[in-house]
Amino acid sequence: MRRAKITIVGAGNVGATTAHWCAAAELGDIVLLDIPQTEDMPRGKALDLMQASPIIGYDSQIVGTTSYDDTADSDVVVITAGIPRKPGMSRDDLLSTNAKIVSLVSEQIKKSSPNAVVIVVSNPLDAMVQRALQVTGFPHQRVLGQAGVLDTARYRTFFAMELGVSVEDVSALLMGGHGDTMVPMPSCTSVGGIPVTRLLDRKRLDEIVDRTRKGGAEIVSLLKTGSAYYAPAAACAQMAEAIIRDKKRLIPCAAYCDKEYGVGGYYVGVPVVLGAAGVERIVELDLDAQERADFQKSVDAVKELVKTVGELMAG
Ligand code: NAI
Ligand code: 2OP
Repeated sequence: MRRAKITIVGAGNVGATTAHWCAAAELGDIVLLDIPQTEDMPRGKALDLMQASPIIGYDSQIVGTTSYDDTADSDVVVITAGIPRKPGMSRDDLLSTNAKIVSLVSEQIKKSSPNAVVIVVSNPLDAMVQRALQVTGFPHQRVLGQAGVLDTARYRTFFAMELGVSVEDVSALLMGGHGDTMVPMPSCTSVGGIPVTRLLDRKRLDEIVDRTRKGGAEIVSLLKTGSAYYAPAAACAQMAEAIIRDKKRLIPCAAYCDKEYGVGGYYVGVPVVLGAAGVERIVELDLDAQERADFQKSVDAVKELVKTVGELMAG
């Protein structure tokens, strides 16, 4: 049986760690690609990961490369190429550089893997995934962004830490863009089936929401040399698994919403069913007045970002 082929573009922190999680889960064969200026770096990381395989016990072939020829006919492509956020930088500061990088990468993927499902990670996420859609011209179901799985994982972690319970028992949902306007949904968060609103008071819930919104910046301020990568990469591997194994996971992803939630043709974090075809369904919830207002604020922020990218790329 043919093994699935996963290409990861950008062999930096998120890219290499995504390769690590994908290999450990034996999702398929992996191609780790970076720019020619990195010379042998992707080959070095791929060989190192191959040499971990007898210890961990996986049979994935892992290739490091700077040539798109090696990526041909991938089933899943994860785009992590770009520059990460440094202390004091907002995600939006990354806009100009990463928009050019994501455009270049998307042009190559369009040629080398025309049937792939593309998961974009590069920031600012919601605008970069829109760019990848425009440049590849793929059906929007096959182009999506990773943010919600990570943001929800942070949110779940903070609840588990607060309540002294297993993270496995915390189920949660976050919507909106991957930025300071993301919309945590306490109404869709439960611990062992108990709504979180029955376990914590409003003040403590708000503090956890706030920490989640600033979750990326908290890691940046601690690392000082870049941004988070273990959890973002684990999130990418979970999404790749949902696609490769057609798991129909119901998880939050940055998906193209037109009529859905009245968004009007932008990427924004919403609950989706993720399977072999990519985003197979967007799950539409009745939002209460506060959730709707917060979601709209987030969508407006995404629209502003997309407009800026459009102006930058035209100019
Ligand atoms: P990194 O600097 O460790 O790795 C980025 C890699 O991309 C570098 O190896 C670089 O050489 C490569 N690259 C640059 N231009 C390229 C091109 N044209 N083609 C192929 N490779 C290219 O950065 P890190 O930490 O891996 O982050 C990558 C991106 O992911 C950043 O934009 C970061 O902000 C974003 N990110 C997004 C998250 C999310 O939840 N959506 C979470 C974490 C990071
Ligand atoms: C994060 O949330 C930097 O977007 C990245 O960690």
